[in-house]
Amino acid sequence: MKIGLLGFGTVGSAFYALARECDQTEIARLLVLEKLPQVACEQTTDYADIVNDPAIDTVVELIGGLHPAYEFVTAALKAGKNVVTANKQLVCACYDELIALAEQNGVALRCTAAAGGGIPWLHSLARLTPCDRITAVSGIMNGTTNYILSAMTDQGTDYADNLREAQRLGYAEADPTADVEGYDARRKLVLSANIAFGVSIREEEVPCFGISGITAQDIAAFKRLGLVCKLIAHAELTVKGVAACVEPVLFPVSGQMAHVNGPDNLISLKAQRVGVQSFAGAGAGGFPTASNVLADCLEIMDGCAPFYVRERKPLSVQNDGLRQRYYVRTADGTDSRLLTVREAHALAATYKNNQQPFFMAAVAEE
Ligand code: HSE
Repeated sequence: MKIGLLGFGTVGSAFYALARECDQTEIARLLVLEKLPQVACEQTTDYADIVNDPAIDTVVELIGGLHPAYEFVTAALKAGKNVVTANKQLVCACYDELIALAEQNGVALRCTAAAGGGIPWLHSLARLTPCDRITAVSGIMNGTTNYILSAMTDQGTDYADNLREAQRLGYAEADPTADVEGYDARRKLVLSANIAFGVSIREEEVPCFGISGITAQDIAAFKRLGLVCKLIAHAELTVKGVAACVEPVLFPVSGQMAHVNGPDNLISLKAQRVGVQSFAGAGAGGFPTASNVLADCLEIMDGCAPFYVRERKPLSVQNDGLRQRYYVRTADGTDSRLLTVREAHALAATYKNNQQPFFMAAVAEE
């Protein structure tokens, strides 16, 4: 496989190293902003050199963000090149369009590294869909927030220091707002739900509440109650469509979730026949993520279908049915309330709009 590689950041440089060790892949050209003296392969600062090169059969996009990734990826698909990307923001925002382009042009689009870092999560969902009916996907889908929450819980360290450390270690997005506000987990959830359920739900419809407002006092209060806080993304099929949200959830300190530490993810599916299956491992970081990118390239070489699934039924997100107990902290103190997901997120939005202190976390059912 002759690859045009876009990007040489944390994941791009790790992929470059892995692809050069693999005897089935060759980095034919690397797109960079400025030529890198330490890189041996041919480099260009002009994407046209890659998209117009007939020898390149696959474009690996690891620059992230919407633009110019969108222009590069669509041009590659239209030029009849396979695309492998780890860009959840792009695939989530342009889901129907990108898959249709891959189908129309008879090429493959793969994004396994877009959810779960090094865990072959999306691949595993796709593998199960012809055999069973997946009814729920759920879990810790963001390494940065899990790293921050674990460190705050275990070492009593500060939110801001841990965020800086997650950035230094290469777990966080270029703009970590996407991590701490839950948008990154939401994109992974939408991709997971779309592939698992054969649907197309819109990112904007999924309510999302992150961890940027959490304090050391919240963590201490959870500890006194024997609870540990995790940022959880959850989606399930309902009679009305799909119920989905991203929010902090409190788990018993003795349970499995409480022991997922650092940048690890723990993601589960629930299916009618196989029941619950869980996948755990490195959810962020250069080499784990790059290994999923390389595995996608090798899957394409084996002659896979254009996308993981063929169905993309548009469905709306409906959260009225899910009612649960929430820990709520405002300037007046803390309390516990029974709320639907819709009510809880509306409450959070009110406090946010009024720029008043607020944190909430759902309490997991035992
Ligand atoms: N920023 C992401 C995370 C990277 O922390 O999970 C992996 O997708």
